[in-house]
Amino acid sequence: MKCVVFLLLPHAFSLALENGLMRTPPMGWLAWERFRCNIDCKTDPHNCISERLFMEMADHLAMDGWRELGYEYVNIDDCWMAKNRDMMGHLIPDPERFPRGIKALADYVHSRGLKLGIYGDLGTHTCAGYPGTTLNRIEQDALTFAQWGVDMLKLDGCYSSADEQAQGYPKMSKALNATGRPIAYSCSWPAYRGGLPPEVNYTLLANICNLWRNFDDIQDSWESVLSIVEWFSKNQGVLQPAAGPGHWNDPDMLIIGNFGLSLEQSKSQMALWTIMAAPLFMSTDLRIISESAKEILQNKLMIKINQDPLGIQGRRILQSEDRHAISLHSLPRTAQFYRGHCL
Ligand code: GLA
Repeated sequence: MKCVVFLLLPHAFSLALENGLMRTPPMGWLAWERFRCNIDCKTDPHNCISERLFMEMADHLAMDGWRELGYEYVNIDDCWMAKNRDMMGHLIPDPERFPRGIKALADYVHSRGLKLGIYGDLGTHTCAGYPGTTLNRIEQDALTFAQWGVDMLKLDGCYSSADEQAQGYPKMSKALNATGRPIAYSCSWPAYRGGLPPEVNYTLLANICNLWRNFDDIQDSWESVLSIVEWFSKNQGVLQPAAGPGHWNDPDMLIIGNFGLSLEQSKSQMALWTIMAAPLFMSTDLRIISESAKEILQNKLMIKINQDPLGIQGRRILQSEDRHAISLHSLPRTAQFYRGHCL
């Protein structure tokens, strides 16, 4: 067996966000790709963005073997809020869809041994038009999330300028730390600034965020998966060294279990996200997921590799149209990826 020795590079010593969280890529469930901004609870109560949806997903994460494998976050995305803040300027959930409030939902999720993630947006509005967190609201919103018992924040970047983002993302990091509650912090900042230096400073990001979205939103198709993998591989010289325990590149959700991927394509997404040391956030309906999709998402070998404590992101080492030229098995047809110490 041929072994490759890794040198410890200076980036390995850079300070991570001081919350000690996400030493391995986070795992869980996120509503967006599958459930989008469906707020129609009158005609679609089963699938609309409501406390019921998150409680049911928490039940399944706890009952169907997910939690034990590491899938621990239940994450709310856009469209959970009321259209306006309350009289004191606090964010509030839509009272019809979240009648018991987010604190009660967090308690419910915690009682099942899971963690709750929430969504906000640095800017005047969220991407779907709900109240945003402007610079003067950052401390207030961080405190609200902490008081509710939230465990993770995805801070999107719609409707803010480059300047506001440069101020706001570090400011929210400090504000979350100052609450005293460990809250993991997912920054969409780089995705709004083209994902690459000089506009994006990955050293800074690793200091202030636990994970960050670098690129386009995933859609329910193989083309979308491929375009993400291509962008990450093309730019791996910049991206790969930025990842490590406590700070991860996020190529977006796993869409396995939905409508756009064949079985082989689903296996490929799992393998590729595994090798990229990507956060494993499923966005699928765990109430009706097929056995075959579940088997892929629960593949113990994939999870073990993804969760390698060294946290070294894999790289693309070979790209070829010729399948016969490729001797390693179980990886996608056109590319070979590599992660770890030994080939
Ligand atoms: C942006 C984000 C997505 C999702 C939507 C919600 O597009 O990149 O992941 O959060 O907003 O509106």
